[in-house]
Amino acid sequence: MCGIVGAVAQRNIVPVLIEGLRRLEYRGYDSCGVAVVTSEGPARVRSVSRVAELDEQARESHFEGVTGIAHTRWATHGAPTVNNAHPIFSRNALAIVHNGIIENYEALREALRAKGYEFVSQTDTEVIAHLIHSLYKGDLFSAVREAVQQLAGAYAIGVVHKDQPHTVVGARAGSPLVVGLGSGENFLASDALAIAGSASHVVYLEEGDVCELTLEGVRIAERGGSEVQREAREVLAYGGTVELGPYRHYMQKEIFEQPGAIGNTIPATDTFEPELFGANAREVFKGIDSILILACGTSYYAGVTAKYWLESVAKIRTEVEIASEYRYRESVPNPRALVVTISQSGETADTLAALKHAQSLGMEHTLAVCNVATSHMVRLTELNFLTHAGREIGVASTKAFTTQLVGLFILAVTLGKLRGHVSAEQEAQYLKLLRHLPAALNGVLALEPQIIAWADEFARKENALFLGRGLHYPIALEGALKLKEISYIHAEAYPAGELKHGPLALVTEAMPVVTVAPNDALLEKLKSNMQEVRARGGELYVFADADTHITSEDGIHVIRMPEHYGLLSPILHVVPLQLLAYHTACARGTDVDKPRNLAKSVTVE
Ligand code: G6P
Repeated sequence: MCGIVGAVAQRNIVPVLIEGLRRLEYRGYDSCGVAVVTSEGPARVRSVSRVAELDEQARESHFEGVTGIAHTRWATHGAPTVNNAHPIFSRNALAIVHNGIIENYEALREALRAKGYEFVSQTDTEVIAHLIHSLYKGDLFSAVREAVQQLAGAYAIGVVHKDQPHTVVGARAGSPLVVGLGSGENFLASDALAIAGSASHVVYLEEGDVCELTLEGVRIAERGGSEVQREAREVLAYGGTVELGPYRHYMQKEIFEQPGAIGNTIPATDTFEPELFGANAREVFKGIDSILILACGTSYYAGVTAKYWLESVAKIRTEVEIASEYRYRESVPNPRALVVTISQSGETADTLAALKHAQSLGMEHTLAVCNVATSHMVRLTELNFLTHAGREIGVASTKAFTTQLVGLFILAVTLGKLRGHVSAEQEAQYLKLLRHLPAALNGVLALEPQIIAWADEFARKENALFLGRGLHYPIALEGALKLKEISYIHAEAYPAGELKHGPLALVTEAMPVVTVAPNDALLEKLKSNMQEVRARGGELYVFADADTHITSEDGIHVIRMPEHYGLLSPILHVVPLQLLAYHTACARGTDVDKPRNLAKSVTVE
C-alpha cells in the first residue's frame, strides 16, 4: 500500500528515493511519483505504471535534486491517474506526499476554496497541501505543526517548500513514519526498509509527532508542540532483493518455504513456557480469564483456527473479531482478557486501531503474533510471539499464515499447561508433532503435480465452494480467500453442516466443491455432506487424509493427503489449497504476486 520516502542530502538523491520506492513496491500500489525542490518551485515525475517506468522517466529527463520526496499510491480518493498521483503541489511552491485518509477533507476543501485555492486533483491530499501553504509564513515546520491540528483521520506526510531548499518536514498520526539518520543527510520513510543502508539509524515517530529534517540534523515536536528526543535505533542493512530462484512467482516460492519458515518459528525449547511470549508473560497469563483475538484477512482466519485450539487445549474462552468491526462496535470490555493481535506486517491500520481501542477500554494485557519485530504492533503490545517466516512478498499471504498458526498453537499449549489441562505426556506429544511438521509439509508439497491437473479445470470455472468442518472450517475459508484473491474466481466457504441451509441451492455440475477431509471426529458427518453435493450433481474435489479411505469415483476427485495429523492437521491442509489457488491463477494468467486492487500491507482504513 502507499509508501513514502524523503531525503535531504548534498548529492543527487533521486536514485535513493526511487530505490526506496522499489523496496516498498511489493506492498501494492497503482501509481508513483517523485518530486525535488528547485529554486523555481518543486518539480516532479509521476507514473501510473511501475516504479521501473518512473525510474526511466527520471533518467531520460535528467531529473535530479538534493532534497526530495517520493511516493507509491494505492488509490482511495480519486482514480489511479497521473493527475492524482503524489507528490501533490500547492501553487507551485509546496509539494506533499501522503499516506492515509483525511476524513474532514470536504469541509477543509470548502474553506480553502473560499480562500481562493484551486483544486486540480480528486485527492484528499490536496487539501493538506493547500492548508499548509495557507499557513506558511517562512517556516515549514511551524506551518505543518499548525496544519495537522486541523486534520481528522489518519496521515503520514512528507512536505517540501521551494523557499527552504534543504528541508523536509514529516508528520504522522495513524499511519507509520520513520526518520532515518545518515551521515550529512537525513531521510523520511513509511518503513525503515526503504532507507536501510542510506540511513544507519532510524527513529520511529510517535502518534502526533511532526519532524523537520535538514542537512544539520532532525527536530521532532510532539503533539502538544514541545520538542522531544526520540530513541534512535540501529537499522540493519537492507538484505537486497529476494531472489526468485527456480520459482515462477514469489507466492510459489513462499509456499515452498513453509517447512523452513515453520522450522525457524518453532522455538528450540523442550517445554512450553510462558517466557516464550515475554519476560512477564507468566504473570500476565495467570491473571487472564479469556482471550480476544483481533486481526484482518488471512491473519483473521489464523485467529479463527486458534479459537478451536485455545478452547479445546487450554479450555479458555476465546472470541475472534475482525479488527475493522471491533474498533467501531460497542462491546463489553473485559479487563481480564488477553488481547491477541495477529498480523504479518504489524502495520495493518485496522488491527492497530482495534488494539488501541481495546487498550483504551482498559484491556491492558496484549500480545502480538507478528512477523516483523520492529513493527508498530510489536512496539504497542505488552507481549509478543515473533513468527520467523522471513520476508513475504506475494500479496496473498501463505507462509505468514502457517507460521502464525504455529505461534498460536504454542500459545494454546502453553496456556493449557499453565492452567493444568495439558499433562507432561501430552506436552511431549505436541512438541513431537510440531517438530515433525516441516517433514510432513514436504510430503504435502510433493502433491503439486496432482494439484496442477485440478487447477487446469478450475481455471475454466467462475465459482467454487469450499467445505470444511470444525478446526478445518477456517482452512476452507482461507482456501476460498486465496482463490478469490489471485485467480479472481468467486469462491465461498461454508462449514459443511450449513450446506443445506442455503448454499446447496447453488450446487450444479458447474459448481466445483472443494472439500477438506481430515480423518477426525467429524469425518462421517462430512461424508454425508459430500453425498448431499453428489446427489445434486456437484463435482467434489476432496483433499482426504490417507486414513479416511475416501477414494475417487464418478464425480468425486480425491487427492490423498498424508495420514491424519491430529490437532496440527489444519497446517497441512491449507497448503494444497494455497497450491490450488496459485496454479489456477497461473492458468488464468493473472498477476499472481500483485493481484488487482489489493495491497500487501493495508495501512489505511
Ligand atoms: C492484506 C493482505 C492480506 C493480509 C491482510 C492482513 O489484505 O493482502 O494477505 O492477510 O492484509 O495483513 P497483516 O499484515 O495484518 O497480516
